[in-house]
Amino acid sequence: MHRFIVPTILGAACLTVFAHPSHLEPALRRGAAAGPVAKTLYTLSNLSPNSVVAIPVSDNGTLSETFLTPTGGDGGVYLSPDGETPEPVDALASADPIVRSGNYLYVVNAGSDSVSVFAIDTYDSTNLSLVGEPVQLEGRFPVTIAVSEELALLCVGTVGTDNGIECFKKSTCGQLTQDGLGLRSFGIDTPTPPTMTTDGVSDLFFSRDGKSLYAPVKGNGLGDDGWISVFPVANGSVATKDIRTTPSGIEYLFGGFQVPNSDNEIFLSDSSFGAVVLRLDDNGNATLVGKGVASPAVAALCWAQYSNVSQSAWVTSPVSNSLLAYDVNTAAVIGQTNITNPNGGLGDFVVPGKYLYGLATGASNGTVAGIAVVDISKGSTSPETVQFFSIGHGVNNYAAGLAYWA
Ligand SMILES: *[C@@H]1O[C@H](CO)[C@@H](O)[C@H](O)[C@H]1NC(C)=O
Ligand SMILES: *[C@@H]1O[C@H](CO)[C@@H](O)[C@H](O)[C@H]1NC(C)=O
Ligand SMILES: *[C@@H]1O[C@H](CO)[C@@H](O)[C@H](O)[C@H]1NC(C)=O
Ligand SMILES: *[C@@H]1O[C@H](CO)[C@@H](O)[C@H](O)[C@H]1NC(C)=O
Ligand SMILES: *[C@@H]1O[C@H](CO)[C@@H](O)[C@H](O)[C@H]1NC(C)=O
Ligand SMILES: *[C@@H]1O[C@H](CO)[C@@H](O)[C@H](O)[C@H]1NC(C)=O
Ligand SMILES: *[C@@H]1O[C@H](CO)[C@@H](O)[C@H](O)[C@H]1NC(C)=O
Repeated sequence: MHRFIVPTILGAACLTVFAHPSHLEPALRRGAAAGPVAKTLYTLSNLSPNSVVAIPVSDNGTLSETFLTPTGGDGGVYLSPDGETPEPVDALASADPIVRSGNYLYVVNAGSDSVSVFAIDTYDSTNLSLVGEPVQLEGRFPVTIAVSEELALLCVGTVGTDNGIECFKKSTCGQLTQDGLGLRSFGIDTPTPPTMTTDGVSDLFFSRDGKSLYAPVKGNGLGDDGWISVFPVANGSVATKDIRTTPSGIEYLFGGFQVPNSDNEIFLSDSSFGAVVLRLDDNGNATLVGKGVASPAVAALCWAQYSNVSQSAWVTSPVSNSLLAYDVNTAAVIGQTNITNPNGGLGDFVVPGKYLYGLATGASNGTVAGIAVVDISKGSTSPETVQFFSIGHGVNNYAAGLAYWA
């Protein structure tokens, strides 16, 4: 079952979503602590026109329906190293192209250099309403978003001809206003769409203390290892100048998160071999403190998330069914398991409780993208595949990003 929604466009006034009486029941139906935490998953079709794909999560954690809502913009696809054919398994080569924060969803339209904002109907979280028109960017080919509710800021990373990060002040109703400081350029020389053989920002996230914005910039795979950028945040603004380090030992940083219970360490995937832990000093300078190499080797280990159920980091590859678990403090490999997945690998994913939900795009534009549901409650060495859900509705290998509402 599916519906194509013609989205409501909300005006300037702040929306308060009141209860639809018929939707009161679903809000009450969760309870069991061991059950699924997520109520709805969101991914991007990243086609043109672009759509948010909303997938409700049933009480036992499984998936069965798909709802598509147009974003008002177009998707985009990186070019393969040949500079001509569309990249088959990693359309945006990034983490966090779709981010849910509070009751709002923020998504990139890589092909139209814009960001769309949706209000989530809290009584039916598959029902999304556009907040105004898509917001046009200075940079080209946006691929990653970071949101801080505490700072009331949203930043976007771009990887096309004009590339870098730019930031917006965010109202409590999801409206975005430019911060007046413009594009903080990375100065990378690349066409639009970019090719997989150029550097580019691949994730963005704020530190928990709100004092830094972290931007891992992936290398070009040809000997340039990329770097980690730290943008200080002060007086409500993200700095115009970053501190860049290429710590010895990294080869191709991709994405990650701040290490739980640490003020100055971040866990990042490194697509060349697995994952690293970096320590940032007070000046934003990064040093490698841990490194874990997958064995047997797995190509393109790209997406990293922490699970407080398994108390470990999980890392996925879009070209391998090998699911890696890491110690979050040392980046030591503590689990490597082949999951069951007809599409041969996982991209962006979330772990909102005992289930890991991973986007499985497949490797050709004839593939039907799916979501692999994996039970991680038995620990880092024993993830168990529960379901493979085919999204359908034309959503193919260009799909990107995963977020959830709980
Ligand atoms: C999970 O719930 C769905 C929907 O209620 C149902 O169709 C499916 O059979 C259930 N699966 C298991 C393993 O209980
Ligand atoms: C979807 O949400 C909008 C905005 O809250 C609301 O006006 C509309 O009735 C909702 N649609 C459905 C089908 O619940
Ligand atoms: C922040 O504001 C304070 C007080 O106005 C000022 O002293 C300080 O230099 C500002 N810091 C930055 C980084 O702009
Ligand atoms: C930054 O850290 C590196 C080690 O990764 C070190 O060699 C270098 O001296 C540090 N630079 C500064 C300015 O502290
Ligand atoms: C785990 O994370 C979830 C979601 O952030 C949170 O609700 C829960 O309290 C956390 N549990 C523990 C034991 O930290
Ligand atoms: C997992 O898959 C890889 C690649 O296909 C293979 O080399 C390895 O032996 C498999 N491991 C197990 C435990 O099946
Ligand atoms: C699908 O893939 C083929 C083979 O790589 C390519 O020629 C074609 O342009 C792709 N179609 C789209 C819509 O990207």
